[in-house]
Amino acid sequence: MATTQSPHSPANPFEQQKPIPGVGKIIAVSSGKGGVGKSTVAVNLALSLAKRYRVGLLDADIYGPSLPRLMGAVNQKVQVTPEQKILPLIRYNLKLMSIGFLIDETAAVVWRGPMLFKAMDQFFRDVVWGELDYLIIDLPPGTGDIHLSLAQKVPMFGAIVVSTPQNLALADVKKAIDMWKRVNIPVLGAVINMSYLRTTGSEERIALFPRGEIDAYLAAQRIPILAELPFHPSVSIASEAGVPVVESYPDSPEAQAIDKVSEKIASLSSNHDLAIDQLR
Ligand SMILES: Nc1ncnc2c1ncn2[C@@H]1O[C@H](COP(=O)(O)OP(=O)(O)O)[C@@H](O)[C@H]1O
Ligand SMILES: [Mg+2]
Repeated sequence: MATTQSPHSPANPFEQQKPIPGVGKIIAVSSGKGGVGKSTVAVNLALSLAKRYRVGLLDADIYGPSLPRLMGAVNQKVQVTPEQKILPLIRYNLKLMSIGFLIDETAAVVWRGPMLFKAMDQFFRDVVWGELDYLIIDLPPGTGDIHLSLAQKVPMFGAIVVSTPQNLALADVKKAIDMWKRVNIPVLGAVINMSYLRTTGSEERIALFPRGEIDAYLAAQRIPILAELPFHPSVSIASEAGVPVVESYPDSPEAQAIDKVSEKIASLSSNHDLAIDQLR
């Protein structure tokens, strides 16, 4: 991270930042609010990318892990090698890690600061991720210790912010974007989830939430909208069944909206690599 420190200033927390060997672009999926569809977007985006790339998906929502259920892997546990390395689960060509694969789904996690930082360290350093083009990270809601820990520990390619369209969610979107700015992590774009209700067999789009000022705000921040994701029961039913919509209904408008996000991420990545090459 490009912060200059005078010899007298306090230690730069970002000095701990170390790449994960073999792991390419690390992208966090975040939001200010809970329940807006972060995990849904993270899981489906990772699956969509995994059709063409080597992808890992880390559930960093230590207090409320969703990944085991979303991927149909409840009660599955990861293997730990004699060297204390953790082998991620593999589903649909995707490497998965969640606290839920170490402890019971219903066990309440009461860790604070240092323990959280340690857990994040383990996720990055002790999981055998192997060679990955992308590591997608599903974050808890808000702007807390886990976000900070992530920003301090690994160099990130960027963050995606998920929101619903109404003004009630906007204040939290602003907080999330402000947080990423403070820690110098680019916001690659926003996904507007539950943008409208789609009903099967009809072109009608029903606004579930009134569209607020999110478009004007994102435009002013120069943050592109990567996709508008409709609300459709296929998404929630697929999630409950543990076979996310990108896998179970790949031709649905919802899966296609996610594929659009993954194409945009891939093109941002290759433009970024090209620009770096040209600097060499
Ligand atoms: N586009 C959508 N259409 C239908 N249901 C959705 C959609 N997005 C999310 N959901 C459902 O809303 C609930 C909350 O989503 P989730 O991804 O867990 O949110 P978060 O991770 O932000 O808390 C889940 O039951 C999920 O299946
Ligand atoms: Mg979640």
